[in-house]
Amino acid sequence: MAIERTLSIIKPDATRRNLTGKINALIESGGLRIVAQRRIRMTHDIAGKFYGVHRERSFFGSLCEFMCSGPVVVQVLEGENAILRYREIMGATNPANAAPGTIRAQFAESIEANSVHGSDSPENAATEVSFFFGEVDIVG
Ligand code: CMP
Repeated sequence: MAIERTLSIIKPDATRRNLTGKINALIESGGLRIVAQRRIRMTHDIAGKFYGVHRERSFFGSLCEFMCSGPVVVQVLEGENAILRYREIMGATNPANAAPGTIRAQFAESIEANSVHGSDSPENAATEVSFFFGEVDIVG
C-alpha cells in the first residue's frame, strides 16, 4: 500500500465547539499522522479559490460564508492510503448518511457545517496540500 498525504480542514463549526483535540484523536487512532497543522481564519478570497471547483453549485456562496465564519485548522495527514482512509474516518458528507463512529456522525451539524474536509483524489490532495503548505512546513 502506498504512503499518501491528504489535506484536512477542521471547519468553523468544530473549532467553535472546541473539538480540535477530539477530531485529532480520531485521526491519530485511525492510523494517520498529522505532519503539518496551522490554525487560520479564511478570507472570502481564500475560501472562493479553495472551493473554486464548486463555483457553479447552489451552495457555493453559503459554503464560502460558512468557511470564513470562524477559525479553521488546516492539516496535512500522512499514512497508508491516507486519502481514502481519511474519507472513511470522516464519514459521508451528509452526516445523516455517515457511519457510526465517524467524525461527521459524531460531530457534524449539517451537510454544510460538517466539521471536516478531506481531499477526494490524489490529484486534488496534491493541489490542496500545496494550496496551504510548502514542503518545509511538512515534517513526517
Ligand atoms: P467538503 O468536503 O468540504 O466539500 C464541499 C463542501 O460543500 C462539503 O464538504 C459541504 O460542507 C458543503 N456543502 C454544502 N451543501 C452541500 C451539498 N448539498 N452537497 C455537497 N456539499 C455541500
